[in-house]
Amino acid sequence: MENLQQLRQRVDDYLTTALANSSDQADLLTAMDYSVAAGGKRLRPTLTLAVAQLLGVELTASVLKAACAVELLHTYSLIHDDLPAMDNDDLRRGKPTSHKQFGEAMAILAGDALQATAFEWVTDNELPVVIQAQLARELALASGARGMVAGQVRDILGTGHQLELAQLKHLHAQKTGALLRYAVLAGGIIAQATPAVLAELVKFGESYGLAFQIYDDILDATATSAELGKATHKDADRAKNTYVNLLGLADAQAALHQTLAVARDSQAQLAQLTGTDTGTLTEFLAYFKED
Ligand code: IPE
Ligand code: IPE
Ligand code: MG
Ligand code: MG
Ligand code: MG
Repeated sequence: MENLQQLRQRVDDYLTTALANSSDQADLLTAMDYSVAAGGKRLRPTLTLAVAQLLGVELTASVLKAACAVELLHTYSLIHDDLPAMDNDDLRRGKPTSHKQFGEAMAILAGDALQATAFEWVTDNELPVVIQAQLARELALASGARGMVAGQVRDILGTGHQLELAQLKHLHAQKTGALLRYAVLAGGIIAQATPAVLAELVKFGESYGLAFQIYDDILDATATSAELGKATHKDADRAKNTYVNLLGLADAQAALHQTLAVARDSQAQLAQLTGTDTGTLTEFLAYFKED
């Protein structure tokens, strides 16, 4: 089995070559490629590949294409998240944000195009059409009005007044959790896993996704801009609804710890259900540095 580092390398290699013929409009392609090639941790497509692999799927070019789609969708969400009308950020993945580099109109359009290309990639491949359809449906649910975009709206509208913990948890589950939940589930869909395995993957993906945004909130308060490649210490200034702003750092860390315990429990269930080595999931959980 390939480890996380090897799977991520496959994602990086695929993304750099496959995006190159996504448009006949050179300026658009340059802007799309700029944000994707800037890097990032590639956690979402790597999660899909890791789950597919542990369920016995061979990592063909079609599997790679379908798996990498979520990275395009995620990159679009970052470009739009950084726009002046949203979080108004200047730095992303260690580089000037898309609108700083290309202007707002091009940033909006590059995001739009990456979103559409994501749906192209899950459906324009050699996988069985039933798998393509399930991936497209789940990606739509995760990224749109029931998922990421709804979470972004809650984030924007909630800014400046404090949400209750249950509301904040829901916001996080939508804005960040939904796409990570999708990334894990997609591996199960590609493998055509049993309903029991799919249900456990959803549980793992949901807890991993919530943990991920709690940790993003913690990193905003504790890490440096150089470490993250994006501005930090901005959530407090902007009166954002985050775990740190609501609960304080120590309790945010406790919430992270609790959420990760659920993910670990789910990983153990998956190991039992599938009878396979879930060691790569341990590598994904090691992303979180707990205090
Ligand atoms: C940042 O996502 C935005 C959130 C959803 C919290 P990542 O931390 O995965 O960003 P990249 O892809 O590594 O740049
Ligand atoms: C963004 O959350 C989540 C997205 C849907 C892109 P944040 O606004 O906290 O992400 P960062 O901190 O800018 O990466
Ligand atoms: Mg935001
Ligand atoms: Mg932001
Ligand atoms: Mg953040």
